[in-house]
Amino acid sequence: MKNEKRPLGIFDSGIGGLTVLKEIIKLLPEEETLYLGDTARLPYGTKSEETVIKYSIENTRFLLKYNIKLLVVACNTASAVSLPVLRKEFSLPLIGVIEAGARAATKATKNGRIGIIGTETTIRSSAYTKAIKSVNPDITVIGQPCPLFVPLVEEGWLNDDITISVAGRYLTSLRNDRIDTLVLGCTHYPLLKSAIQKVMGDGVRLIDSAEETASEVRELLTNLGLINLSGSESDTKTTPVRRYFVTDVPVRFEEQGSRFLGEKIYKVDKVDLG
Ligand code: DGL
Repeated sequence: MKNEKRPLGIFDSGIGGLTVLKEIIKLLPEEETLYLGDTARLPYGTKSEETVIKYSIENTRFLLKYNIKLLVVACNTASAVSLPVLRKEFSLPLIGVIEAGARAATKATKNGRIGIIGTETTIRSSAYTKAIKSVNPDITVIGQPCPLFVPLVEEGWLNDDITISVAGRYLTSLRNDRIDTLVLGCTHYPLLKSAIQKVMGDGVRLIDSAEETASEVRELLTNLGLINLSGSESDTKTTPVRRYFVTDVPVRFEEQGSRFLGEKIYKVDKVDLG
């Protein structure tokens, strides 16, 4: 029999995937969660597909030891390049962040012109373009890597003049291309929503892959009969277990992570994936 109380497993290259965890907690507060941030090997966004696939397999093997019921690949770069391999290699239900964002963008666009921003490896993979075209081949998709956004977010410069100026430089061509929908195709970008909206103008709809993925996680758990209903059955609510694993020392993750998650992070363990 399925045990719906088993935890969800989530991995990312580091802290960025906490934006996805945050949305999952919002929609599914009863679910226990195990989060792995591969902080010793980040960033993934500048690495080759081969390397990111290797890391993704190791991350999945690690989380599987904890009897997870579903895997969420929260990292856009890892989702973009490794999802087909993970689906072939492992039998558990798993989802990435690309398909949900792509579907939402396809629904949102009115003029059939969608922009995608992400890391170099995500944009090079064309994963979002393929996912959008599989829904509607007539849509025009324009990709733009924005590598400086990740360090700017980690520095906490979310609305700084420098950030607006960098955003202007990256996004002007997308504005000139008359897109009406822009997918935030990287874990860090939801924190830059206001800066990006300022540069793109109100006429452009921003699609947050983290929010869309959380809805899809809820839908998938419901369809598979894996939702944890324990909290709704009793008055005596217990706080669900949230564990965090990192592959480098936890200090930076603990300090910066709360900004991404919107709450204090406890129980961070350093682990060795080997
Ligand atoms: N998590 C990555 C992503 O969403 C961004 C950080 C990195 O490059 O590792 O693509």
